[in-house]
Amino acid sequence: MSIRRLADIRPARGKLGVLLPGVGAVASTFVAGVMNIRRGLAKPIGSLTQLGTIRLGKRTDNRSPMVKDFVPLAGLDDLVFGGWDLFPDNAYEAAKHAGVLSSEHLDPIKDELSLLQPWPAVFEQSWVKKLHGTHVKTGKNKADLAEQVGDDIARFKKDNALDRLVAVWCGSTEIYRKPSAVHATLASFERGLIDNDPEISPSQIYAYACLKAGVPYANGAPNLTVDVPALLELAEKNGMPICGKDFKTGQTLMKTILAPGFKARLLGLEGWYSTNILGNRDGEVLDDPEAFKSKEVSKLGVLEHILQPHLYPDLYQGFHHVVRINYYPPRGDNKEGWDNIDIKGWLGYPMQIKVDFLCRDSILAAPLVLDLALFMDLAQRSGMKGIQEWLSFYFKSPMTPEGLYPEHDLFIQLMKLKNTLRYLRGEELITHLGAEYYD
Ligand SMILES: NC(=O)c1ccc[n+]([C@@H]2O[C@H](COP(=O)([O-])OP(=O)(O)OC[C@H]3O[C@@H](n4cnc5c(N)ncnc54)[C@H](O)[C@@H]3O)[C@@H](O)[C@H]2O)c1
Repeated sequence: MSIRRLADIRPARGKLGVLLPGVGAVASTFVAGVMNIRRGLAKPIGSLTQLGTIRLGKRTDNRSPMVKDFVPLAGLDDLVFGGWDLFPDNAYEAAKHAGVLSSEHLDPIKDELSLLQPWPAVFEQSWVKKLHGTHVKTGKNKADLAEQVGDDIARFKKDNALDRLVAVWCGSTEIYRKPSAVHATLASFERGLIDNDPEISPSQIYAYACLKAGVPYANGAPNLTVDVPALLELAEKNGMPICGKDFKTGQTLMKTILAPGFKARLLGLEGWYSTNILGNRDGEVLDDPEAFKSKEVSKLGVLEHILQPHLYPDLYQGFHHVVRINYYPPRGDNKEGWDNIDIKGWLGYPMQIKVDFLCRDSILAAPLVLDLALFMDLAQRSGMKGIQEWLSFYFKSPMTPEGLYPEHDLFIQLMKLKNTLRYLRGEELITHLGAEYYD
């Protein structure tokens, strides 16, 4: 991850291009949100980069600047948006279709939002079975498609006089796949692009093109994409930050808030049953068992890592964890996530907790896209390359190097993120020891 204390951070001068593979509900809610916020029509609620503060020094020092004043981040006025989709709808039409934002937030920015016209996608139906796109690139092989994505990026950069770019995948969830031989090295991957290897997914073609073009890449979906040795090698070689996987928004966010609390109090867990109803296009895509498998793997790992049954066998050995998602069109983007949690206390007496989260999926995800775009740009200007574990805070299934288990506890993740910022700026890390107040 290569973090340097008191890093020499290049200033955020000029325009930052934000590339969005997938201009659907999340991406259009994010872009429309930024347009509203920069006109002063709404607040960036949910965004750490915009509303967060960071404590520096002792509790008695009263130094808690805004995160955005502490580290040099791109300003919202400097963001320019581009994207790809297999449907030709512009971002305004996509937002209308998604039905997340009301006309109060769409009418004032209609013209500006309509300018985000997605470029044709790299798409193979075998990777997202439920979608049938028309706005799709053709090429003689996957290397050719990667080159076309690279051309889109170069044109976008030139036309908008951009200084830097970042990419955040907001496309649909691809079917579950384990890494294969073609993903082992950059050389085998590049050979696979020419040979049209079926194991190379469309998202990997975008990621490859971005990393080649000097664009950091964040993955908001559970599919592997950059989490394979070949693309890690490319990221390291080109000095590019990467991170993923799968935005941590609704039910998993709740899980990583609650489970650390049970563990802190040494309360046991017998089982955690989670079910969701969801009616947006994402829900439709996840109705395919192979796409759901990607999501399930991403959602299931969380409790095991937080609760560490091997260290606490009396509390957590063999707990049951079930996750279901059901496509239910009447709900649209307004997902309902139910959790039934069977816990146990003193002498093993059972108790239950029920959580019913009536959430809005894209409203929860949009600020994460913004923070990831700004922090990935900061990482690149700070000379940080490879996996950005300090951004685990944003993901259900954080990327880590081989052999290192991911940190899922939201509070540890936040401490890691803020300590990374302190470290970059040469400030003392906060350990919460607090002995100095009593000396
Ligand atoms: N909203 C959340 O809370 C949340 C949380 C975690 C992860 N995610 C993930 O974020 C992604 C986006 O979610 P959404 O609700 O916006 O879904 P969506 O279906 O509204 O949007 C996804 C868009 O991606 C497009 N797409 C699919 N494959 C593509 C490709 N190869 N190239 C370009 N475009 C492609 C689709 O046409 C669609 O317009 C999904 O993978 C979802 O699982 C969302």
